[in-house]
Amino acid sequence: MDRPDFTGREFHGAAEPQPKNLTTKTRRREEILCDSSRLRVFVVNRISLWGRKSERSSKSAMASVLIVEDEPKMLRLLELNLGEEGWTTFSAGDAETGLKILGREAIDLVLSDFKLPGMNGLEFLDAIHRVNAEVPVVLMTAYGSVETAVEAMKKGASNYVLKPFSLEEIKLVVRKERDAHRLRVENRTLREELGRRYEYPNLVARSAKMQEVLAAVERVAPTNSTVLIGGESGVGKELIARAIHQRSRRASGPFVKINCTAIPENLLESELFGYERGAFTGATATKPGKFELADKGSLFLDEIGDVPQITQAKLLRVLQEREFERLGGTRTIKVDVRLVAATNRDLRAALEQGTFREDLYYRLNVVPIDVPPLREHAEDIPGLVEHFLAKYRGESGKQIRGVTPQAIQLLANFHWPGNVRELENIIERAAAFAKGEWIEAGDIHLDTGPAKGSNAPMGFLPPGMTLDQWEDEMIREALRRSGGNKSQAARLLGLSRNALRYRLSKIGIADDPEMP
Ligand SMILES: Nc1ncnc2c1ncn2[C@@H]1O[C@H](COP(=O)(O)OP(=O)(O)OP(=O)(O)O)[C@@H](O)[C@H]1O
Ligand SMILES: [Mg+2]
Repeated sequence: MDRPDFTGREFHGAAEPQPKNLTTKTRRREEILCDSSRLRVFVVNRISLWGRKSERSSKSAMASVLIVEDEPKMLRLLELNLGEEGWTTFSAGDAETGLKILGREAIDLVLSDFKLPGMNGLEFLDAIHRVNAEVPVVLMTAYGSVETAVEAMKKGASNYVLKPFSLEEIKLVVRKERDAHRLRVENRTLREELGRRYEYPNLVARSAKMQEVLAAVERVAPTNSTVLIGGESGVGKELIARAIHQRSRRASGPFVKINCTAIPENLLESELFGYERGAFTGATATKPGKFELADKGSLFLDEIGDVPQITQAKLLRVLQEREFERLGGTRTIKVDVRLVAATNRDLRAALEQGTFREDLYYRLNVVPIDVPPLREHAEDIPGLVEHFLAKYRGESGKQIRGVTPQAIQLLANFHWPGNVRELENIIERAAAFAKGEWIEAGDIHLDTGPAKGSNAPMGFLPPGMTLDQWEDEMIREALRRSGGNKSQAARLLGLSRNALRYRLSKIGIADDPEMP
């Protein structure tokens, strides 16, 4: 007998029913031939979309196959081999059991004998599709004929293969089914994503890059996974963190934020975990920490890269066990909190320098979302300008109608080292100082000094200035630009809050730990 054609377009061999027994001839020819060497396989390859159940299972790494076969030996053989192939297998010795499993489990493919006790393959095909109209079915039969195959196709089959089969061959058939299944699901997901625009109030994100970010938000929001949001200062990390919370099942719960940079090292732990009365001098009453306050909601750990090492160890424990004790307390408190962390630092570099714990990094970085810098989605600038104008128009007390095309052009060409926040500040200022009804190019004051990401040529130290003096000057300039906000100054300089504190003390500028 010829080898079967797995494209399933041809039948080989006798059309008459054949007994299910072994022939030594076939056994010799095929090294790993299945027991029922005269079996024929119909691949009932339905080109149709997959049902909700199969979609669910497609998201997990393994696809699941239901094997319906009344010969126990054959059943076992298929189970073992498909299991080895990475399929999750469900087995049934008869049609009725098979249908029950199909109704209960998320099955991606049915592999069934054509002749089952009490039901033939065509009836079974019908019954299968009554339970799950979209699941593809591979039929194996010793009772096949072209007529039966045609009949099977009429009932929804688009493809079939007749054979005595080797295990390698059956594996190939089901592998093809799995690949086709994945492709269909992927195509559909892509089509859906392409056709869909994500809209959030307060968030301007029309560019493809920002739409990708929002697609990630949509995917992760309903889960409980920890998210690590990365991106330069001012790109909108906090806005994205809030969007995740709003789109989650915890939306009605609290969104609690803690800025790990702004809080002095010795206070961070008590802020996070709370304290008991008398835990330290000044602890006159018991106070719950942010973790407790965020119970049933989300906790946003901003600037996670600035968490000191000792606190990192404690954070790791909460992430692993979702429990902690208040400072000075003995009672273990359990919380149900979803963590979203953000950083504008390269945490990988911090890992290499040993300033950030690797185990904590991996716990936090379950789902990374990177928000692109504004210069990479300049298409959003007109929309953002409109958005900020709507926000500040009222405050300016003027009848500002809009921004001239020249002004938009100026904004679109800028490299935006301070990203969306910087754009917002510039629009606020322009709205306040605009002389006419329109904001013109002349009303826009960009900070065009050499900055990260600009193409300005590298200069050298001003004549007569030492490197230390120049560094001092940069620190003072950063403080001026941030309006005295030291956390922001630290960000502008690419320093941690602690590193800035050290440099400030060196140049004799007082640093009040209570100040941001
Ligand atoms: N896509 C956006 N649409 C509308 N407003 C935005 C957008 N992105 C950022 N903003 C605004 O820009 C400002 C800065 O955003 P946000 O605080 O979320 O940035 P960030 O990345 O957390 O900054 P930092 O690293 O400095 O903490 C906020 O006022 C925010 O509302
Ligand atoms: Mg922020």
